[in-house]
Amino acid sequence: MSEDSKNMNGLPDSEHFSDEEIVKSHVELSKNKHEPTKNFLIAPLVFVFVFGCLIFVCSIQLAHSTNSFQLHPPVEVVELTPEEKESQRLERKFSSGEKIFAARCASCHQANGLGIAGQFPPLAGSEWVSADPGVITNIILKGLKGEILVKGEKYGTSAAVNMAAVPISDREIANVSTYVRQAWGNSSDEVSEDFVKQVRADYSNKQDQWTGDELKSLYSTSF
Ligand code: HEC
Repeated sequence: MSEDSKNMNGLPDSEHFSDEEIVKSHVELSKNKHEPTKNFLIAPLVFVFVFGCLIFVCSIQLAHSTNSFQLHPPVEVVELTPEEKESQRLERKFSSGEKIFAARCASCHQANGLGIAGQFPPLAGSEWVSADPGVITNIILKGLKGEILVKGEKYGTSAAVNMAAVPISDREIANVSTYVRQAWGNSSDEVSEDFVKQVRADYSNKQDQWTGDELKSLYSTSF
């Protein structure tokens, strides 16, 4: 074994060991394998077993002491009465109408429904709002032009303060009309989608805006 055949650990290269030496050292190695840990392995196993039993016993105790504990308790189904369903439907319709009003009407008539004096008429307490539901429906569908009296005040005195048609669906008109007829102390009955559909069909040929006089003669019984 010459000096320069040693590897970088200072040990001789394995090719310079004889087969006999290699076999011998492997036998030595396999004999000593787990020797140092032999007596220590039992202890952790005992701990694991004891703690396992403890957790088991504790969970049984716990299950007993929490009476009727259920991981997935059955859901309680509450059936609504027809009256409750109806009031829920009306609430939803009203709050949908409130949102449509905020987006499509409040810029002129104001969120409080009081309008702006001399410019945009009030909807709170208005005789046009509490009249036949055909009036408000037609106003939204086609718009309104010319002079009108609302709560004794003149509006629509110039073309600049006419109201244009508001292009929204039958359902939206029903919801927003219902809201306007029931908000701010107004107390007229709701407007249905079918009713709006019918009004839209009845006056589908009308091109321009309504005038107050036209609506008054059309719905004369409700003013
Ligand atoms: C761009 C402004 C504007 C918008 C937006 C508008 N209006 Fe009007 N509205 C007017 C004006 C102006 C008049 C009065 C027109 C006239 O006298 O000729 C009027 C009149 C009315 C009237 C009859 C008069 C009264 O005070 O009761 C009703 C009802 C009405 N609007 C409801 C609505 C509803 C509901 C919406 C939303 C879907 C709406 N308006 C959106 C400007 C507007």
